[in-house]
Amino acid sequence: MCGIVGYVGARHAAPVLLDGLSRLEYRGYDSAGIAVVGAEGRFSLVRRKGRVAALESARALAGNCGIGHTRWATHGAPSERNAHPHRYQNVCLVHNGILENAASLKEACLARGERFSSDTDSEVAVHLIARFLQEEGELLRAVARATALLSGSYAFAVLCEGREEIVCARRRSPLLVAAGEGEAFAASDAAAFPGAGRRAYALEDGEFARLTRAGVEVFDAHLQRAERAFFPLPEEGASSQKGAFRHFMRKEIAEVPMAAQRSLSAARKMANSQLCEVLCQTKYLHIVACGTAYHSGLCMKVAAESLARVPTEVFLASEYRYADPIVPAGGLTIAVSQSGETADTLAAAELAKERGSTLLALTNVEHSSLSRLADVCLFTRAGQEIAVAATKSFSAQLAALYALVVRLAEARGRGAPRLRNVAALCRAAIGAGEGTRAWAPSFTGARSVFFLGRGADRCAALEGSLKLKEVSYLPGEGYAAGELKHGTLALVDEGTPVVALVCDRALADKTMNAVHEVYARGAPVFLVTPFAELARAKEVRGSVLLPACAPVFSPLVSVIPLQLLAYHVAVAMGRDPDKPRNLAKSVTVE
Ligand code: F6R
Repeated sequence: MCGIVGYVGARHAAPVLLDGLSRLEYRGYDSAGIAVVGAEGRFSLVRRKGRVAALESARALAGNCGIGHTRWATHGAPSERNAHPHRYQNVCLVHNGILENAASLKEACLARGERFSSDTDSEVAVHLIARFLQEEGELLRAVARATALLSGSYAFAVLCEGREEIVCARRRSPLLVAAGEGEAFAASDAAAFPGAGRRAYALEDGEFARLTRAGVEVFDAHLQRAERAFFPLPEEGASSQKGAFRHFMRKEIAEVPMAAQRSLSAARKMANSQLCEVLCQTKYLHIVACGTAYHSGLCMKVAAESLARVPTEVFLASEYRYADPIVPAGGLTIAVSQSGETADTLAAAELAKERGSTLLALTNVEHSSLSRLADVCLFTRAGQEIAVAATKSFSAQLAALYALVVRLAEARGRGAPRLRNVAALCRAAIGAGEGTRAWAPSFTGARSVFFLGRGADRCAALEGSLKLKEVSYLPGEGYAAGELKHGTLALVDEGTPVVALVCDRALADKTMNAVHEVYARGAPVFLVTPFAELARAKEVRGSVLLPACAPVFSPLVSVIPLQLLAYHVAVAMGRDPDKPRNLAKSVTVE
């Protein structure tokens, strides 16, 4: 949610900032801007509505120190006036987060005769810093005094005229600082500035940093210099390039087999160590997550309860954090998050920990806030995911969670199907799932789309529906196949395609009843199943024949054609599947 960057060093700042911003664009893309301190010590500022590409004219700005921002609007419409950096007097700032007391602080500033030029919450922070800078004469102290007055979340990078330094502050929004040879960087995410030889540190809540050509100084909440361990930044990987693919989403679906297989292997290794002890002793499993990660939690629940007989509850993190949850003694909470930065998931995880639960983080990002909070971490190995819609990260989560379930079942002396040939299964599902391209014309004009299933199929149906909604903007629902007739069937007619998932032979007849019911009401029916004879039924307009897989683990394969369907429908409708409207990849605000 918003990406921020900062650079100071021997190179011109503008091209470095633009490059960093384009790598962070998945975090928000409704407006962007940069500010650079020029040779004479004055700011040059360029802001534009739209994507980072709209900032090209800023590439030529001269100056070695600057900050940049790519926005996902919270307060104030997407527009040039609301784009960051925000400037007041001799201070300029970029912000990721939400300032919850901005309205009252702004009133006080207005009463002092100060004028505002945007509708954002962020602008008030620059007013406060500018005022305190006059009093303190030092940017770091001014930022510290201002942040002491703020409630809510922030990652700030702040510049003032006449100085080649950037001051950073963080509370509940991610911010990394990094040092290279004669240069220093700040960014919301390590992806902004990959490079050999650079070392980074993820600021903790309440910490500050000062960036100069000499490097990075970190300060604690009392502004005392703090020695911190920096980690090497990864070099740029193939994940950040589209290669031969037209879109990142399609490329990342192609990477599902690799992501699932690697994550499975990582989880198997972990399942023999510290994690195993925690896991195998647990009497209850709680899972907290949002969106797609919540769906992977639902899939785990089905497997954990049926194979290991461990009672498992899955919570939407945004509900859990305000629900006064009952956290059973001796339980384990698993927080699932691709980014490890989702604000609601972090808050829920923190609450579970406070209430005595052991916290396991399942995340794709090693130095994320979630991994630093957790008692024990398990990392998915999906590689960086750039398309906003989660695809390979979902499969990676499933593979890791299923490996844990198998370990849990074994520890309880129960058998579990083997998770074998995962990469090959996923490859076969991609091959078969490509057939959904031919379904697209039946979906592009749809009024609504239903995805039906029972048990594990229902979990995959929920994910299929979310995927289609977010990249095609078609309304739809994932539904328990048996539940439709209790009300929602009223919506079904010729204009509502239905995708039914049937991966469990034991439930096939039951789900096919729902297929007959929707077909009788005129709905075009599409089937995703490993059972060829079902696909031949007269009701079925199109089908994907999946490779055979243990039904309890079937979402690993059944969700792949649904991801492909979402992709093909989005492309057929002229949408940008990588950057759907109104969304951003890393939801670091409430
Ligand atoms: C959907 C999607 C979102 C995320 C959700 C949680 O395709 O990507 O629903 O799954 O915002 O994000 P993480 O996993 O980073 O916590």
